[in-house]
Amino acid sequence: IPHSFTLSNGVKVPAIGLGTAVRADRRPGEVAKAVEAALKCGYRHIDCAWGYGNEGEVGEGIRASGVPREEIFITSKLYELHHKKPHPEMALRDTLKKLGTDYLDLWLMHWNINFETDAPDGELPQMSHVRKHNDKIVIDVAIADDVSETWAEMERLQQAGLTKSIGVSNFNIYRIKKLLETAKIKPVVNQVELSLQCPQPELVEWLKKNDILPEAYSPLGSTAGKALRENPTVVEIAQKHDCQGAAVLISWLLMRGICPLPKSVTPERIEANLKTVQLSDDEFYALEKLAEDHPSKRVCDQTDDLHPRYDIFLESHPELS
Ligand code: A2P
Repeated sequence: IPHSFTLSNGVKVPAIGLGTAVRADRRPGEVAKAVEAALKCGYRHIDCAWGYGNEGEVGEGIRASGVPREEIFITSKLYELHHKKPHPEMALRDTLKKLGTDYLDLWLMHWNINFETDAPDGELPQMSHVRKHNDKIVIDVAIADDVSETWAEMERLQQAGLTKSIGVSNFNIYRIKKLLETAKIKPVVNQVELSLQCPQPELVEWLKKNDILPEAYSPLGSTAGKALRENPTVVEIAQKHDCQGAAVLISWLLMRGICPLPKSVTPERIEANLKTVQLSDDEFYALEKLAEDHPSKRVCDQTDDLHPRYDIFLESHPELS
């Protein structure tokens, strides 16, 4: 079972990262505590985003842990307000300031979507600047068709040393192929929803063949509540290994060559999620079979479609629906 993955540019990534996209109704300070607990129990990989609105807390947690910056792999993401120049650079500098660091290890394009805003010149657009029509946010669809300029700006900022690597998130095969037509730097990662309820085997195989690391958000299938952790097959395997159901789900992803980013604000769960186990072939294939049979295939949109699935996109943007 892998303890790290090596990106196509030679950079190493600790195999499990802490996800920080926690619900907005969480108490202030909870994310800082989660990050501190994670670093203290051995995590060296934290997955953040400007859009989660809590990078200041992540920075606090990092400082409170006492773990040196250079030992931690930090990812953040370019938000859907910041695709157009000069906003990518302003947003990245804002992220760095909030995190309290002068570089990222990895910076991802969060979605290939941009919102129109009325932000004054020279100001970093915020959600309050979003332009609305009939109460709906105006989306700049041209960006969904063509993110080449956004990507070129991300490449420039990598070359300027503000981030060590760049990648994408929520891209299907077709969207990555289109990006590769103009990219000078290949994305090292594609972060998508991956779990037993959303296995996306075709996408995962394609990414691996093309040396792009698949990263898994919602690896415990949080959108299905506790259904995956409490699935009878998962529970049976967990009992055999004396670990939690969540650790079985994480181990299965690792054995598929995927980097899982489980979220939790509970210190005991944060620690339990690091206790992965080597699954036997039978156990591994029992889980593969479950994934194959899973009735709710969520984002397997391997069509020649440049536009994200709006239902999935809206789920992560409650402010839009
Ligand atoms: P909490 O943050 O209250 O600990 P996902 O990473 O798939 O999005 O799942 C996140 C959800 O799973 C959170 O609600 C989190 O709850 C819960 N969770 C994380 N790890 C565990 C675990 N080991 N056991 C039970 N629930 C967990």
